[in-house]
Amino acid sequence: MHKIAVIGGDGTGPEVIEEGLKALKAINQQHNIECDFIPMDINGTRFMATGDVLTDDDMNQLKSCDAIYLGAIGHPDVPPGILERGILLKLRFDLDQFINYRPVKLYPNVHSPIKNATPDTVDYVVIRENTGGLYTGVGSFENKGTPQEVASQSMIYSYEQVERCIRFAFQTAKRRHQATPWKGLSETEVAAGKIGRVTLCGKTNVLTYVFDLWERVFEDVAKDFPEIATNYTHVDAVCVHMVERPEVFDVIVTTNMFGDIITDLAAVTQGGMGVAASGNINPNGVSMFEPIGGTAPDFTGKNEINPMAAVGAAHLMLDHLGYSEAASQLEQAKIKVIQQMKSMLAGKMGFKTSEIGNMICDELYHMVPN
Ligand code: IPM
Ligand code: MN
Repeated sequence: MHKIAVIGGDGTGPEVIEEGLKALKAINQQHNIECDFIPMDINGTRFMATGDVLTDDDMNQLKSCDAIYLGAIGHPDVPPGILERGILLKLRFDLDQFINYRPVKLYPNVHSPIKNATPDTVDYVVIRENTGGLYTGVGSFENKGTPQEVASQSMIYSYEQVERCIRFAFQTAKRRHQATPWKGLSETEVAAGKIGRVTLCGKTNVLTYVFDLWERVFEDVAKDFPEIATNYTHVDAVCVHMVERPEVFDVIVTTNMFGDIITDLAAVTQGGMGVAASGNINPNGVSMFEPIGGTAPDFTGKNEINPMAAVGAAHLMLDHLGYSEAASQLEQAKIKVIQQMKSMLAGKMGFKTSEIGNMICDELYHMVPN
């Protein structure tokens, strides 16, 4: 029996999570997976009422779970930073979810703003370091409020933090291509026995301390993965490639801040925030799965938001819990429903949020468990 904490959160979070839960319950039933879903009242509305962001009780409860299924956190009346630092980032940090796993996959029939994008060309994973770097919060003001003011915020990384993140990226590349080598490799690379690639995304030409460390660790870890090809690309160039030639990417590994920025761009290329999902992973602890779209206040309560990203987070969670067949079946059902939808642009779905959840369940009931 798996204990799964469910944090609907704010805005459209609870609506999309409800559809994801419908799909999860359907697939679990078919595969005899037993989950106890524990709803938790952690959100901006509770903060407005009680002043609590994340209590010790919440934390203890979460630590006793096998995974967390999260909608979105954010409240229009709460100043920026309080809920982000107090809930989302605190969960990532305190549960040591040091990987942010963000698949970038354009599904058939999903509109991408990139003209020539196809499901063949947009299919990679971003491994974003998730507990360090600029997000550490180390910084200061001097002479605040005066014309002499100086503010600073530091990008801090230890060898160990970088090592575990880069190692995870190599393991991801290996896992993705265990069966057939990645098609983006050159003939020479295939002949040399390579099966996938990890690209280090950094800024070695300017951030000469931090990325010197990242490059050295990258080279060290690569030695343990002779079957994985490697390369390095500056973060600004990565943005260009994501738009012009996304097929050059297999697994990208990068820092917390760069990963935050490039995965929003990546999400747009795969059809937008309604589709993109992510996992905050602690391979030895409690991981948390979320759609990356945020609270979408304009859509809240209208039954119009696209729940596909929440369904994506659900199959990432199943996969993480070790149910790779159930996860892939749920993903297949999602793909079938996407094909029944006219367009996957937010707001132009042609279906209600709740209808989409029902359609996925229908698909699942018609599929033979594999
Ligand atoms: C994300 C979000 C968060 C981040 C915010 C809400 C703190 O943008 O998950 O990408 O910056 O990590
Ligand atoms: Mn972000």
